Amino acid sequence: MTSTAPRILFFAGSAREGSHNKRLAKLGERIADANGIPATFADLGDYPMPLYDGDDEERSGPPDNARKFEALMRVHTGIFIACPEYNASITPLLKNTLDWISRIRSPDGQKTDVYKTRVFALGSSSPGGMGGLRSLNAVRPVLELGLGALVLPDQFAVPRAHDAYDDHGHLKNKDAQESFKALIQKLARAAHVLHG
Ligand SMILES: Cc1cc2nc3c(=O)[nH]c(=O)nc-3n(C[C@H](O)[C@H](O)[C@H](O)COP(=O)(O)O)c2cc1C
Repeated sequence: MTSTAPRILFFAGSAREGSHNKRLAKLGERIADANGIPATFADLGDYPMPLYDGDDEERSGPPDNARKFEALMRVHTGIFIACPEYNASITPLLKNTLDWISRIRSPDGQKTDVYKTRVFALGSSSPGGMGGLRSLNAVRPVLELGLGALVLPDQFAVPRAHDAYDDHGHLKNKDAQESFKALIQKLARAAHVLHG
């Protein structure tokens, strides 16, 4: 049996330049890197996709950027998603991305297995007092029930995001920074167990 080091992909369900969730995902990448876990940050703004439309799909199939992002997911064994909260739910950007990727088929017509073969962990960040926690309650069933993904039960929220980070981009609250590190390390261990 071959043993592969886990690789973690970090991305956020917001493409906004000043996104608090991109900041969280970038911090995750830095923490992973500092702890010897190979990691990548990806910005969904670099993978624009049209809003899912069945007629478009019929005509042209999934957009190239869905295929590119799926390929990026495939070269990682663990995936952390920072999930912004829009009206107590998932952002359209994140849902659209997950939906398009779920429509990818191999040349022999098989559905992509990328969701079922990675381990996921979730976090969120918001200027509000709950840190966007309710978005996680919306994203989790999409991944688990809709896409058959394994999602760690642990999750991480950063409330009052405007004031949560120091000048180096670390969380001012040291206990929170340690909790985030513990979640990333658990994700790496789980990805290693799943992939060997
Ligand atoms: C349409 C919309 C709905 C929102 N609803 C919520 C909400 O229910 N709870 C919350 O904490 N923040 C809510 N917000 C505020 C977002 O959490 C805030 O804009 C956050 O910065 C978005 O994430 P980002 O910084 O990663 O782009 C909402 C923002 C928008 C634009």
